[in-house]
Amino acid sequence: MPAAPTDRHEVTPIATERLSETLVMPARSSLFHVIDPRVFERSLLDELCDLATRVRLLAKTDAGARTLHDLLPTRRAMLYFTQPSTRTFLSFSNACHILGMRTSEIRDPSTSSEVKGESFEDSIRTFSSYVDVIVMRTKESGRAAQAAKLMNTIPRPVPVINAGSGSDQHPTQALLDIYTLDRSFEPQGGIDGKVIGMMGDLKRGRTVRSLCYLMKNYKGVKLVFIAPDQFAMEPDVKAYLDQHRIPYTETTDLASVLPSLDAVYVTRMQTEWDTAGESRAVDLTRFSIGERELKLLKRDAIVMHPLPRGPEIDPVIDQDPRAMYWRQERNGMWMRVAVLIKIFGAEPRITLPDL
Ligand code: NCD
Repeated sequence: MPAAPTDRHEVTPIATERLSETLVMPARSSLFHVIDPRVFERSLLDELCDLATRVRLLAKTDAGARTLHDLLPTRRAMLYFTQPSTRTFLSFSNACHILGMRTSEIRDPSTSSEVKGESFEDSIRTFSSYVDVIVMRTKESGRAAQAAKLMNTIPRPVPVINAGSGSDQHPTQALLDIYTLDRSFEPQGGIDGKVIGMMGDLKRGRTVRSLCYLMKNYKGVKLVFIAPDQFAMEPDVKAYLDQHRIPYTETTDLASVLPSLDAVYVTRMQTEWDTAGESRAVDLTRFSIGERELKLLKRDAIVMHPLPRGPEIDPVIDQDPRAMYWRQERNGMWMRVAVLIKIFGAEPRITLPDL
C-alpha cells in the first residue's frame, strides 16, 4: 500500500538531515586540520587512542573489517607526498582504504603542474576541488600550515593533515607514538609519571620535536635527551617544556641513564639535512642500542623508533619483547584510521562492546 502523503512528509526531514550529515564537511569544533601537536588536549588524545583500539579490534574479523569499509565510502583523500616516505604514506593510504575511502596521489613534484610554475597555493586549492581531505608531506617547514590557512579562506575548505613538514613537525607520528606508549604502559598505569628517553639526532628530527609537545598532557613525565652536543634538542622545544613545567635532562652518556628509563625513543641521524657531512663526525656507537644496552634497560621498559632505522638499533634485538618499533609502525595505521574517523565525525558509528 502506498504511504499516505502525511507519512512521506514526516519522513522527509529525517532523510534531509541524514543527507546533510553525510555530505557536509566536518564541524570545525571536533577535529579539522591536523597541523601542530600543541593544540591536542588530553581528552582528545585519550579519545583517539580509544578509537584506534576499537578499530584495531574490529578489523580482526571479516564482519568488523566490512563495517569499517562501509564507514567513509563517499570520501576521497589526496596524498601529496613530495618528500620520501614509506610508512607514513603507506599507513595513510591503507588507513583510507580500510575506511572505504578512495585516494589520489602525487609523490613526484615533477608530475604536477608546479613544474609549469603553478603556485603552491593554486596547487593545493586544485587538490581541494577534487577531494575531501589533503594529507601532505613536504621538504619545507610550514607548508601544511600554509595550506590549512588557505583552506580557511575558500568556500569549500577541506581538512589538511600534516604528514611531516621539513625538520619541523610530524603530528600524526606523535599521535601514534602516544598510542604506542599508552598501550605499552597500560599495565603500569599509563604514560603519567614515566621517564622517557629520546636519543639520536634531536636537533633535526621532527618526530621527537612533535612528541615533546604532546608530553604536556601527561602528569609527572620526565624527559631525558641523549644526543651528541651538535645534535642536541633545539631551544624552542626546551622553552616549551620549561613553560609547561616538564622536567628534562640532557646527556651524552646513554649507559648512565638507561636503567632509569621506562621508554627509550631512538632516532636516526637525519643525514639528508647535512650540508658538510656533519653526521659523519658523530660516533654513532655511543647513541645505539644492541644486546649490551638492553641488559641495562628495565625488564618492562620499551624501545621505540619511528623508522627507518640506521645502525642505531641492532636488528638482533628485534625479537626482544621490549622492542616495540614494529608494533609502533602498525599502530600508525590504526591511529591514522582513528584520525580520519574523527575528522569526518564517524566515531559514533564505531560500535563495540565497552572495552
Ligand atoms: C620519520 C620522518 O619521516 O620524520 N619517519 C616516519 O615518518 N616514520 C623519521 C625519520 O625519517 O627519521
